[in-house]
Order: sequence, then C-alpha cells, then structure tokens
Amino acid sequence: MSKEAKLELDGKSYTLPTVTGSEGEKAVDVSALRATTNYITLDDGYGNTGSCTSKITFIDGDEGILRYRGIPIEELAEKSNFIETAYLIIYGDLPNHAQIKRFSDLLTDNQFLHEDMKFHFQGFPSGAHPMAILSAMINAASCYDEDLMRWQWGKTKQFDVYVARLISQVRTIAAYSYRKSKGLPLIYPKQNYKYTANFLHMMFSNPYEDFEIKPEVVKALDLIFLLHADHEQNCSTSTVRMVASSQANLFASCAAGVCALWGPLHGGANQSVIEMLQQIHREGDDGSKFITAAKDKNSGRKLMGFGHRVYKNYDPRAKIIKVACDEVLSKLHITDPLLDIAKRLEESALNDSYFVERKLYPNVDFYSGIIMRAIGIPVEMFTVMFAIGRMPGWIANYKEIMDEPKSRIYRPRQVYTGKTINHYVPIHDRK
Ligand code: ACO
Repeated sequence: MSKEAKLELDGKSYTLPTVTGSEGEKAVDVSALRATTNYITLDDGYGNTGSCTSKITFIDGDEGILRYRGIPIEELAEKSNFIETAYLIIYGDLPNHAQIKRFSDLLTDNQFLHEDMKFHFQGFPSGAHPMAILSAMINAASCYDEDLMRWQWGKTKQFDVYVARLISQVRTIAAYSYRKSKGLPLIYPKQNYKYTANFLHMMFSNPYEDFEIKPEVVKALDLIFLLHADHEQNCSTSTVRMVASSQANLFASCAAGVCALWGPLHGGANQSVIEMLQQIHREGDDGSKFITAAKDKNSGRKLMGFGHRVYKNYDPRAKIIKVACDEVLSKLHITDPLLDIAKRLEESALNDSYFVERKLYPNVDFYSGIIMRAIGIPVEMFTVMFAIGRMPGWIANYKEIMDEPKSRIYRPRQVYTGKTINHYVPIHDRK
C-alpha cells in the first residue's frame, strides 16, 4: 500500500509521497518540497537525508547487517576474494568463468603506469603523505588518456577498461608512493601474480630479490580490501557521487574520494587507532586513563576506531577482522602488545555506560591496523590500503549515477544565517 506523509505548514496542508526500499527502508520524498511550500529541509551532517536510491550495498545499522548486492559480508569474507567482490559490486552480479577471466586480464593489461608518471613521483618531497600522492597521481593518470580528458558522460565505450585501469593502477600508485617516500627504486608489477600478491611484491621486493609472498599475508590483506570495498553513502562515496554529478570523469571523481577518505573521522581512523594504541603503550596506561579522557569532551580525545554514524550495533566487518587478526598474528608467530591493549580497551568500553548508552562499538578500523602492522604495512600507508579497497565502491557509485538517465547535478541548499544587506564601506571610512 502506498503511503503519504502529511505536512502542515503556515496553515496549509501538503501531502508528500513516500518511498520504500527493497529491504523495507522508508523515506519521505521531499524532492518537490521547495517548489510547493517554499521550505527546504535542514539536516546538519545529512544524518536523516537519503541523497539517492542505490542498488549496491545494504546496511542495517541496528542489526549489524552489511550486504554487497544482497550477499552478506560474512559469506563474501569466507568464500570470495577482493577482485571477485569488486566485480560483484561494480557490475551487480557475481562473475562467471569467462567474465572473471576477462576482468582479470583487463586488470593485468592495465597495471602499468605511463612511464612519464615517474617524473611526477619525483616532484613530491620525501615526507609527503601517501594519501596526498595517491589523490594527485590518480588525477594525473587520467591526463595520459585523451578520451578521459574529453570525457563524454555515459558515452564512453571504454568504461570497462577505465574501471580495470583504476582498480589496477591505484595499487601500483600506492606501492610507488611508499617506495618514493623511502627513496627506494620502483618495482614493476609482475604478470603472473594476482592482485594482492602483486601489491606486496611492488611494496617489498627489491631489484635483486623478490619478496616472499606468504599465503596467509595475502589472505589477510585481501580480506581487508574486501571488507572495505563498499559502504553505501559514507563521506568519501558521497564525495565521489557529488563530483561525478557534475559529469567530471571517473578518475577525477575517485581522486576526490581519496581526499575525503583521508580525514581521521573516516578512513584516516585506522592510522589514528594505531597511533592511539602506541601512545597508550608508551605511557604505560592500561587503557583506563585513555577511556576516561575519551569520555571527556574537553580532552580533545576520542576512542578512535569506535562509533559509527550508521552502526548502532557491532560493525559486522569489525567482528570478521577481529577473528582474522588473531589468526594472522598466530600464523606469523607475532605477539603484538597493541592487540592486548585494543582488546582491553574494547572490553572496558563495552562495559562502560558512556559507550553503551551511545551505542558505540568497534568499527572496521579498530583491528585492521593491527593486521596491517603485523604484515609490515607502514602506519602512514594504512589509509591508502583503505582507498585501494574502497575503489570498487566508488566506481560502482559513479557508474550508478552515470547509468541513471535522470541524474542531476548534486546541489544542496542552505539556510543563510549571515548578515542581512550590508553596504560596501571605503577603506578610509572603516573603523
Ligand atoms: N569516542 C568517544 N565518544 C564518541 C566517539 C568516540 N569514538 N564517537 C562518538 N562519540 C560520542 C559523541 O561525542 C557524541 O556524544 P554526545 O551525544 O554526548 O554529544 C555521541 O557519541 C554521538 O556521536 P556523534 O559524534 O554524534 O556521531 P557521528 O555519527 O556524528 O560520528 C563517527 C560518527 C565520526 C564515526 C564518530 O563515532 C567518531 O568520531 N569515531 C572515531 C573515529 C572513527 O573511528 N572513525 C571511523 C569511522 S568508520 C569509517 O569511516 C571506516
């Protein structure tokens, strides 16, 4: 049964249509509100605003459910891998044999950067943050392709090639940005390595000796990529959609996503979590002092890796990562004091009324950094790992609005609260 919302404003009555999603999520459609009432909705931080309808990812934050194209994240984590999941997210269905072969071949064919891009890497100072390099280089990569430069919205026949190029090259750029920051020679990708193994090779091999690719390390990193692959309308994905809506090309839109991801309240949280755990360890705190500070709004501290705008229950990705974390550390025979601190912090927070009342649980970033540390990824590269993982989600969201014939430029309104009319005063008359 279709429902309508009733709105009373200035003594007049309006009806607004409602929309119900395939999982029963309900929305009041306010798209005609301003035209009919002259009012807009005000929703700071967009906590109650659906910016689009989407068929890609479903999250039920109260129940702790996450599904890509309908498939539970737990099933994908157990049975799939990052590249197959990327295909699912971007194209809507799991690939058959021929489709995954074509996709893998395209990824391999597109993994090399244009040789001239090496000169761009040289231009960055050695201390440059890899996220800055990543975003700049994704944009720069598009300059080597004429079709991308003359991007025709919805018309390119090469879209599949660009998808593969972006997924493949983000990994090459990421590894190069690390090598550059260490002053190390760049290592080219190998044809016979699969996606994640090739990344580890480009990061850690040297010109004389190939890095030993351990299956447990590949599995753990591939899982991290897969768990980050999409997460509906988060800050970076919304940014990608915002930029895409202006009909900017795929690379420019995803480069903007990298910038949005960088902040510590979003993808940068994985770096902040490890820095927080290191600080607690250095100070010899058992975690209790930090928890007290995180509850005090004046301390400027937060329990990083905790809380989420959508999950008001355990983040299902954090559950999977916590198990993987124990597994990989044990297989690699590593004992990390930071893991003990993290577990203690989690236990204290989950029994503390401040965190319980606010429904603050560990999110995906709480344990992912400990795995990355164990497999040798430097802390400043953690958010870059997130960006590699999130690329399929950004691309799928880009494709979704590009495929929508009625898509409009994103252009929110505001309620102006500044000065009313205020005339120009010449400088000599100013106080
Ligand atoms: N530590 C301490 N208090 C917290 C935390 C935290 N990590 N997170 C939220 N709170 C408190 C807030 O201060 C607020 O308290 P109040 O009601 O007394 O004012 C309450 O919990 C609600 O939090 P909001 O800030 O309103 O939640 P919001 O949805 O705006 O923010 C966010 C979500 C950004 C994730 C927040 O929880 C946070 O900053 N967490 C730490 C950073 C982090 O881990 N980010 C990664 C997110 S997941 C991702 O991007 C992959």
